Amino acid sequence: MQIAVFISGAGSNLKALIEQAASDTYEIGLVISNRPNVKGIDIAQAAGIPTEVIDHTLYDSREAFDTAVAQTLQHYPIEAIVLAGFMRILTPEFTENYLGKMLNIHPSLLPKYPGLNTHQRALEAGDAQHGLSIHFVTSELDGGPVVLQAKVPVEAHDTVEKLRQKVQTQEHLAYPLAVTWLAQGRLCYQNHQAWFDGKPLKAPLQLTEMD
Ligand code: GRF
Repeated sequence: MQIAVFISGAGSNLKALIEQAASDTYEIGLVISNRPNVKGIDIAQAAGIPTEVIDHTLYDSREAFDTAVAQTLQHYPIEAIVLAGFMRILTPEFTENYLGKMLNIHPSLLPKYPGLNTHQRALEAGDAQHGLSIHFVTSELDGGPVVLQAKVPVEAHDTVEKLRQKVQTQEHLAYPLAVTWLAQGRLCYQNHQAWFDGKPLKAPLQLTEMD
């Protein structure tokens, strides 16, 4: 399966996806960044992946930006989109077009903490566990059906940065796995639900149980 990865920054998840793609069922045919000069673009270029920068500050509306993204995608044989640290909200028109073909990774155990500053919010709430969620993208922000989660313990000495690192380590294991499932057809979206191996998911899969 040919995928496009959308990024806005460091691209550590992109790097994990590239490393796994070398031996797997999906190929990254395009990386799109809404920010110029980010590390993720360098990572893609070093791997020989085509890149497109579509700077959102040059568009006067969300719709105009999304139209530019959609037009760019038409030049590549892309079958699915993987959002990996892409910090733009996409319009419902765009998400509807890729319903069931677009995944996002979010640094919290959804439905807890949609939106920003998730590590800080988990710390402030005194949560014993934190983690990440991979979900199908719908028009609701961080609200589509969750497919896979990985949990990390929140320990007494944890800071926002330490928690971020712990979550990211798990992200780099979880995301390539979920994208592989999508490419294999093991994971799909039907009737507003995520399905895995032919059955609707009653609860998100857990990374620790997938070894
Ligand atoms: C990740 O923590 C991801 O969960 C969030 O943004 C971050 C992106 O990091 N959506 P990177 O650019 O992949 O390093």
